[in-house]
Amino acid sequence: MIPHRPRRLRSSPMIRELVQENHLRASDFIAPLFLQSQEGSTPIASMPGQSRLGPKALLAEVRELRDLGVKTIALFPAIEESKKNPQASEAWNPNNLNFSAVKSIKDSFSDVLVMGDIALDPYSSDGHDGIVDPKSGEILNDETLEALIKQSLASAKAGFDILGPSDMMDGRIGVIREALEESQFKNTLIMSYSAKYASGFYGPFRDALESAPKKGDKKTYQMNPANGAEAIREALLDEAEGADILMVKPGLPYLDIVYRLKSQTTLPIAVYNVSGEYAMVKAASERGWIDGEKVMMESLMSFKRAGADIILTYFAKEAARLLSR
Ligand code: PBG
Repeated sequence: MIPHRPRRLRSSPMIRELVQENHLRASDFIAPLFLQSQEGSTPIASMPGQSRLGPKALLAEVRELRDLGVKTIALFPAIEESKKNPQASEAWNPNNLNFSAVKSIKDSFSDVLVMGDIALDPYSSDGHDGIVDPKSGEILNDETLEALIKQSLASAKAGFDILGPSDMMDGRIGVIREALEESQFKNTLIMSYSAKYASGFYGPFRDALESAPKKGDKKTYQMNPANGAEAIREALLDEAEGADILMVKPGLPYLDIVYRLKSQTTLPIAVYNVSGEYAMVKAASERGWIDGEKVMMESLMSFKRAGADIILTYFAKEAARLLSR
């Protein structure tokens, strides 16, 4: 019998390149950026290499990303505590930090797409994605939808190309899509955070925005990490309600969900390589316990292999720089 020798396909760099199944490109990445109202920038302790950016620093960062081929960014504003209230009304103030930022990016760059998060947490004095019933503490679904519609229309008006509802309220994609259609925002994309888990991996993000819930947790709206089928149900509902792109979040611990979703939809799939995943790689690499660059590229490739088309990642700039060498 002739022996099977799969190693033949790995025997030189040239043959390995020839048979490589998946590839990473800078244009696969969406870079999440944190905003602050003051000029300058403030490093985020639990996310080495990431900072909250003031207005000028933001434009410089966008230019650098764009020049490296990362042409989509997602904005996350750090809102002053004095502007937060239980209704999160700052979320649709036409002059808020988020909307000024997207306007200045759109004025400066014609070749950059900007995504805006749709959820109330950065603006809510309760630190929840939805409106909290002051008596029971319940996160009120349908009351929150009204707020999300206002936030979405104001976001589309301010110039966001992509809306990313990250709140996990029931029915939000349908009502947002309907409101966009009625207001003639026919080309505004919706990238739904379809399968968003109640995860411990969001810790550094909540530090960055000081947006952690004041009371309780997010388990009545974000998903139970023990569930898989439910993620597919959530994603297919979002597809039926009019989402253009479906997202799975976090990334690395949920690659099975990306893979399962790929076989269930023809829509593009995005994955969010979240703050805690970034922090773990940075921390271990700072201690010399792992090779940070290698682990970064291997993690990003695993998303493509699992079936993701788009990767939201704090590694966007670093990875794009490596890819361009
Ligand atoms: C807000 C939102 C969160 C993230 C993105 N949008 C935090 C949360 O739901 O508590 C997390 C991103 C990250 O950890 O990198 N709705």
